[in-house]
Amino acid sequence: MQARGIHHLGVAVDDLDAALSTYERLFGAQVEHRATVEGQGVRAVSLRIGDGRVELLEPLGADTPVGRFLAKRGPGMHHVAFDVSDLPAALAELSGAGADLIDEAPREGLFGLEVAFIHPDSVHGVLAEVVSSE
Ligand code: CO
Repeated sequence: MQARGIHHLGVAVDDLDAALSTYERLFGAQVEHRATVEGQGVRAVSLRIGDGRVELLEPLGADTPVGRFLAKRGPGMHHVAFDVSDLPAALAELSGAGADLIDEAPREGLFGLEVAFIHPDSVHGVLAEVVSSE
């Protein structure tokens, strides 16, 4: 499977507003989208930094995927999202290559994107997301 690039880095934070102002102040980040997604248990902001993008994720509660991540590992890098042209085809290729898919089929991610996650055990400890941006 050939990824087109890195779509974004996902970062787990305790305080979304504080993290947002840090990224604005230190790196000139600009807000692209904001959303509270009850179904995924997060408040999230998508930031553009030049050609790159960072997604800040604050859990809505302790008993959410990001809440459990924070409790276990503290704030920091949560996932890397790879941009692919055809998400179903990418998932089939990843599965064929032996990757352990958390999502067998595309699902709705943040900001209206179709996404799927790959288990960190298949990617040397890094939770990977695949996204089709078009
Ligand atoms: Co993401």
